[in-house]
Amino acid sequence: QAEDGIRDVERSRGLGDVYKRQMKALLLVGGYATRLRPLSLDRPKCLFPVDNKPIIDYLIENLAKANCTEVVLAVNNHAEKIKSYLGEEKHGIKLHYSQEDQPLGTGGPIKLATNYLQDEPFLVLNGDILSWIDYAELMQHHKENHATATLTLKQVSDPTRYGVVRFGENDSIQEFVEKPTREQAPSNWINAGCYALNPEILNTIPEGKVSIERQVFPKLAAQNKLKGYKYHGDWIDIGVPSDYLGADKLIRKTQASINPTCIIHPNATITDSIIWGNTTIGPHTIITSTIIGRNTMIGHHISIKNSVIADNTIIDHNLIITEATIYPNLHIETNIKNREIKT
Ligand code: GTP
Repeated sequence: QAEDGIRDVERSRGLGDVYKRQMKALLLVGGYATRLRPLSLDRPKCLFPVDNKPIIDYLIENLAKANCTEVVLAVNNHAEKIKSYLGEEKHGIKLHYSQEDQPLGTGGPIKLATNYLQDEPFLVLNGDILSWIDYAELMQHHKENHATATLTLKQVSDPTRYGVVRFGENDSIQEFVEKPTREQAPSNWINAGCYALNPEILNTIPEGKVSIERQVFPKLAAQNKLKGYKYHGDWIDIGVPSDYLGADKLIRKTQASINPTCIIHPNATITDSIIWGNTTIGPHTIITSTIIGRNTMIGHHISIKNSVIADNTIIDHNLIITEATIYPNLHIETNIKNREIKT
């Protein structure tokens, strides 16, 4: 099988420690997170809490473990919120901010940050992924295989939402197919949004808005310069509400993630849900598989299921709300089923 041509790097303890050299990483945190609206209208995805801690903290902590000393945050949308949360240094890592005037996609921000990245191989990570990838081991694998780019790959049961690889021989990725149908999918190994790149790649990325997945990786694959690093651990991209809830469930040890500033009546039942700060929930209310933003008041005897409720919402007593998406600053007085409420 061609797929077996890829060297299968198990997450062997200690190998990562071999790569002692310091490294740099660029984090892509400037997207609009449209699939997480309305929660993302007011907050960048990288600051969404997972088990009450912003997802960006998990990424930076994991980078610090891999001896990463400098991180470039590629920012655009909500840049000020990211800067004021992270500051100049975190977990011993020096932070730089590379500000885009307009969204540059997933490739343009790397080109824009050329001055920080041109010296030696560096990492690029999507800022919305929860994983335990050993970045030092990835970098070591990248160097040993003399690739221009090494993609971390994750095996999933449904690859259709992702960039999927077709394996070639000699550790190479032969083709890279973005969001194929099930029939077209050449394997079930997907781009996990974490790359090791050689600085020479900077010369191949055009100026302006560029998708690295669609415009850069296919060309490298055709030139036999794209390699894969198989990752076997937990991995979740928090891009849509159900996966955001899934990521939270993976980490938390409790029934739900409730910010400590919330006031929850002891007779309320909250399961598989995420509740951001300053929310009040009344007695005999049952909340299941739902994300609730900040400063929300939820009355008594309410059932809320499979919904997303944005900031500053008031929900009256005795209601049933299922599969609803509720925009900020609204007062809800009627039952809602499978609807988006904007005004
Ligand atoms: P959707 O609109 O819901 O697709 O979300 P998104 O804008 O975050 O796009 P996507 O999930 O494809 O982005 C993957 C990663 O790239 C995320 O970490 C984004 O923050 C980041 N990203 C996407 N577009 C840009 C951009 O124009 N500039 C920067 N700096 N990062 C971006």
